[in-house]
Amino acid sequence: MCGIIGLVGHDDAVPAVLDGLGNLEYRGYDSAGVAMRNGHGLEVAKRAGEISDLAADLTDALPEGELCIGHTRWSTHGAPTDANAHPHTDCTGKIAVVHNGIVENHAELRRGLETRGHEFDSDTDTEVIPHLVEEHLEETGDVGAAFRRTLAELEGSYAIAMVVADGSSIHVARQGSPLVIGLGDGRSFVASDVPAFLEHTDRVIYLEDGDVAEISAGGYRIATADGEPADRPVRTVDWAPEDARKEGYDHYMLKEINEQPDAIRRTLHGRLSTDPVEVDLDLDDRLDGVERVHLVACGTSYHASLYGAHLLSRYGTDAGAWLASEYPGRMPTIEEGTLVVGVTQSGETADTLSALRHAADSGARTMAVTNVLGSTAARECDEALFIRAGPEIGVAASKTFSSQVVTLTLLAGHFAARTGGIGPELAELLTALPALPGQVETVLAGTPAEGIARRYHDQRAHFFIGRGTAHPVALEGALKFKEISYEHAEGFPAGELKHGPLALVTEETPVVAIFTGRDDEKTLGNVREVRARGAPVIAVASERTSVGAEADEILSVPETHPDLQGLLANVQLQLLAYHVSDLLDRAIDKPRHLAKSVTVE
Ligand code: M6R
Repeated sequence: MCGIIGLVGHDDAVPAVLDGLGNLEYRGYDSAGVAMRNGHGLEVAKRAGEISDLAADLTDALPEGELCIGHTRWSTHGAPTDANAHPHTDCTGKIAVVHNGIVENHAELRRGLETRGHEFDSDTDTEVIPHLVEEHLEETGDVGAAFRRTLAELEGSYAIAMVVADGSSIHVARQGSPLVIGLGDGRSFVASDVPAFLEHTDRVIYLEDGDVAEISAGGYRIATADGEPADRPVRTVDWAPEDARKEGYDHYMLKEINEQPDAIRRTLHGRLSTDPVEVDLDLDDRLDGVERVHLVACGTSYHASLYGAHLLSRYGTDAGAWLASEYPGRMPTIEEGTLVVGVTQSGETADTLSALRHAADSGARTMAVTNVLGSTAARECDEALFIRAGPEIGVAASKTFSSQVVTLTLLAGHFAARTGGIGPELAELLTALPALPGQVETVLAGTPAEGIARRYHDQRAHFFIGRGTAHPVALEGALKFKEISYEHAEGFPAGELKHGPLALVTEETPVVAIFTGRDDEKTLGNVREVRARGAPVIAVASERTSVGAEADEILSVPETHPDLQGLLANVQLQLLAYHVSDLLDRAIDKPRHLAKSVTVE
């Protein structure tokens, strides 16, 4: 839940590390810091606030150094203060550590260290690490050995990068938190995620749990937890550096909303032909024998899973969606033929990983539907299906929702093809997919969302309703709205309003009603109920639906297959949330209290 970067072999490592941290800010942004090694030993600069604050502090006297580690933090232990910012150092100031994860036995380790005379500067769990290394260095005289002995004492999860004042390499270790090495020309990187160094190299090595590595300007050495040399594959990522930049947009979120046509094109590329209708997810017969599918996910990915489960079930595969954090507690008995699919943009969400592990331990086959090659979910599951949306930096998920739903639609096609064959109804849905990117472009080009946002941004609450596939879209519309605007928003199945939530509806609570072309008459009935209570209605509909005078505002979308209509509606809702939040001057890309990748349960 924090971002780590390290760089060795660059003449001017500090600015490069600060830039890289900027690309990791989505992982946490309450404090930041760097430790650099130059001719005079180690220098540490850190502070509460954003990376830009740290960079501003350093601008006048940007210390030179050829080796640097940096960190952007999302607090778990200790408030976001200067002292709690990483890097943390030992008593001598010659060992500096940045860490992502949680040292679960930190209290006990700290008590022991304090008894032995160590003095602590922070409230963090991380600070025990440099002090332990300090002790083990005195015993062994060898940095690598001291680092290993320290790791053996830690319980919990970590990605760690460490530098020492008189060393020329970065020591790193991974256990439960992501860490990837980047191989440049005469320089090497390590980071929590690829966008941190994508400007410099696309050649990467994903470390595995238990790996301990030493990175120098000329290369790297990786060993397993037992100290055996480990050979990890070097991969080339197909993300371009501009994917990780704002490219003229005010916010990453707006850029990523606008990238949806291309994201969907990439999701579909080479996987679908329409004459005849065929789906090729490169899964061959590996999922044959699957009789039911459990989708487990959190947040936006959960809403995409609800949508996907709806489509899988409608077109012949027994499927359901579970909130990953609830799944282990109420998981149905895993019978033969159960596939548990973790839907996760990052592939690192702790709740989702835990649900997948629980399922695997209970005998289920597992699959990751993820955006990140080399992510923990992709590596741990029996199968991985990539959504290919490209890097998503904004904390609010946008393009990945679309790519997830399209991927799950293709999965429905895969299962149908491998069992009874793709019937005419499913063929109609799949045939509508290639037009989707162009239809999203139409929404983006003609949306009235900004004007509607101006008229309704200062209301008491916003409610979102829909039925069928529009229900997860209503939930997602409300999540996006509250997440970035900090205003109250709730999504409901349209038919549920009258069973309770209607009591909340007043003339100060706009109701956003999503129509798909299925059961529209019933949803219109619900719209009449809220209008009778004075609520303004914003309808999201294509021309197929005769909303007529029932709505005060219309966010119109092109007409497509009813099962895809929700995806177009969702783009309008993303834009509505975006413009309301922009008018309210919110931190759209980095909403308060949130982080992109939630690696704690
Ligand atoms: O990386 P994941 O898809 O597993 O993340 C799950 C949620 O944390 C994530 O979708 C979250 O809800 C989004 N920030 C919402 O916009």
